[in-house]
Amino acid sequence: MSEIGIKKVARYVDLREIKVDGDGVLVVGGGGREHAIVRKLRESARVGNIYGAPGNAGMDVIETGLSATDIDGIVDFVAENPDIKFTVVAPDDPLSMGLVDRLTERGFRAFGPTKAAAKLEWSKAYAKDFMRRYGIPTAAYGTFADAEKAKEFVRNGKFPTVVKADGLALGKGVIICADEAEAVAAVDEIMSDKKFGAAGDEVVIEEFLTGYEVSLLAFADGTDLALMLTSCDHKRAFDGDKGPNTGGMGAYSPCPVFSAELSEKTVETIVKPTVAAMQKEGAPFKGVLYFGLMVSGDDVKVLEYNARFGDPETQSVLPLLKSDLYEIMNAVADGKLAQTNIEWYDKKSINVVLASGGYPVSYKKGCKISGLEGVDNDVNVYYAGVKRDGDGFTTNGGRVLCVQAMADDFAAARKKVYDNIQKIKFDGSFYRKDIGGKTV
Ligand code: AMP
Ligand code: GLY
Repeated sequence: MSEIGIKKVARYVDLREIKVDGDGVLVVGGGGREHAIVRKLRESARVGNIYGAPGNAGMDVIETGLSATDIDGIVDFVAENPDIKFTVVAPDDPLSMGLVDRLTERGFRAFGPTKAAAKLEWSKAYAKDFMRRYGIPTAAYGTFADAEKAKEFVRNGKFPTVVKADGLALGKGVIICADEAEAVAAVDEIMSDKKFGAAGDEVVIEEFLTGYEVSLLAFADGTDLALMLTSCDHKRAFDGDKGPNTGGMGAYSPCPVFSAELSEKTVETIVKPTVAAMQKEGAPFKGVLYFGLMVSGDDVKVLEYNARFGDPETQSVLPLLKSDLYEIMNAVADGKLAQTNIEWYDKKSINVVLASGGYPVSYKKGCKISGLEGVDNDVNVYYAGVKRDGDGFTTNGGRVLCVQAMADDFAAARKKVYDNIQKIKFDGSFYRKDIGGKTV
């Protein structure tokens, strides 16, 4: 299955064993999102070898054996392997650790925001104060470094309310509280019990917003920006948005209820002001800027910023990209987005995650995966928590695979995804049956 016969290379890659045409690209990260990025990059005539830090066994990349947060190791690896002309940093942790700064300081080309620009994601308190300073619409809030003051704010507030750990918490640091007792307990969990570690040194307490959620991603080159198609993800584990929050169980794109008028309004009141304000802050944003939006009627507010591609939104959005992703990423790095034409297919896309039974709490690993060879050619399978086992794969994580299809309408795309996902089997597998249900 692998077109390149090298696995687990450490530090130095023997160029005699790999193809030399095109730019070598290192992709940092190893989940379904990164697989979608890799697959789109492969369509570029300019891209040669693709390396993964760490990648995964199903991604068809040269696995470096480096973890996504081994910042020194990644910088050394790029320095020691002149085949690598560009590094794409996909996950939040290495961005927050300054990997892009470290690479560009050494003269290496990279895609992603600096640590200072990524602060829009890695500190919710910073993001909220930033929005207040620049008049960008968001929920009313308070930020606290002192648990007693946070509790006092809660007691004087309305319910439900939302308590958030300031820092990165694998998407789990947001607690929606129905009453005062729950909110006080949430403050204790985050600030005193340190459930999310240092991410809970500060909390944001926020007004509860109602409406529907839209993910709007944009390429930004520090000055200019280009919107991607909108998308919606499904965060809860079970059908009907029941069960615990997960890393995401599926997504679709574009989001049919988000009209052109709403999009225009969002660009004028949120997207452009954010990019302009980051320049003023002395931290121009280069990379993918992700706006998590709450929409109610014609009112649009920012729930959160992310400084990267969303997972699993990317697995639906990127297949719709007609233009060369590598050209776009280079234009972003060079501040030349305004001269770059970005085109999209006029299709609808859906992806559904196939997960291990018990995810996101506890689950088995090492189950044999079967049926992959029966998947239709026009359906994408993105690999996440997998391990190679002889000629096949076994499970190695909670979110194992993601099955994606596109078609002229959502009904046809959904049918393709669900007809195919049921062909893939492993012990205890489950998936949501209602992804994209609101589109048809
Ligand atoms: P965040 O990581 O800040 O986007 O929060 C994760 C999820 O929590 C969001 O996608 C929403 O579903 C929910 N959420 C966050 N903030 C609010 C809010 N102020 N009102 C209602 N729901 C929220
Ligand atoms: N899908 C939400 C995220 O990537 O944070």
